[in-house]
Amino acid sequence: MQTIAFVSEIQAHAKNLRAAGKRVALVPTMGALHEGHVSLIRLAAGRADAVIVSIFVNPAQFGPNEDFTRYPREMDADLQKCEAAGAHAVFMPGVEDIYPKGYSTFITEETVAKPLEGVSRPAHFRGVTTIVAKLLNIVRPDLAVFGQKDAQQVAVIKKMSTDLCLGVEIVVGPTLRDADGMALSSRNRYLTAAQRADALSLSRALSRAKEMVTAGERRVDRLVAEATHLLAQHRRVRVIYAAIVDRDSMEAVREVVPGRSLLAIAAWVDEVRLIDNEIL
Ligand code: PAF
Repeated sequence: MQTIAFVSEIQAHAKNLRAAGKRVALVPTMGALHEGHVSLIRLAAGRADAVIVSIFVNPAQFGPNEDFTRYPREMDADLQKCEAAGAHAVFMPGVEDIYPKGYSTFITEETVAKPLEGVSRPAHFRGVTTIVAKLLNIVRPDLAVFGQKDAQQVAVIKKMSTDLCLGVEIVVGPTLRDADGMALSSRNRYLTAAQRADALSLSRALSRAKEMVTAGERRVDRLVAEATHLLAQHRRVRVIYAAIVDRDSMEAVREVVPGRSLLAIAAWVDEVRLIDNEIL
């Protein structure tokens, strides 16, 4: 597995792969890789001849008071995981190569990015779409793989890809969960044992809503009320939003459409901000 630190080098590497007729997959990450990322790399490896993983903690998607500086950085462990999962190359650029002095071009998706995360993290998706578009332009992969854990990110990236005719297949891997239901996330490592115990209420609220839908419930107010009731029982948990939306448009729905509607939850567990979701 090759590690590549410069845009010009990964461009040349990807160009050679394409010239050799290889199907190329890109798995964009911010590192601090866990089994969820590993599953995305494996998914990519099953669908492409060459998998390029990018590791870049993208400053443009963090707000001024967010965790950019303390976001976990574990390069050696990450590289081992990438290699074991079947990556052919890891692209890990420096900030100055991605956003050189004077950089001034950003991409905004203006509909799907607005609700939910867009309300409490207003500049977040502008940073995500900019870096993802840039990575896609640099690597020009046949497919790019993202995790369903970030459901709104997936919807925004799909919309950007359609709107800008990027010609890349967007593949979505399922959320991986610990045995107790907790969705894997690089931010889980910020949690103490007591906070983690309370954080489990997110996945429990999602499972409860899913059970209710399976039993025939379609009323959004009933489902959201039950989810928020479960979350409110934990003293460290502060709900930012719990909303049932269409999985593609992220618009609020009046009634659950099984397979199309998604319950998305964001909550503070003390000072740790977590998100999770479930397609109902
Ligand atoms: O999901 C992430 O880790 C990031 O938002 C992404 C897609 C790598 C862009 O920085």
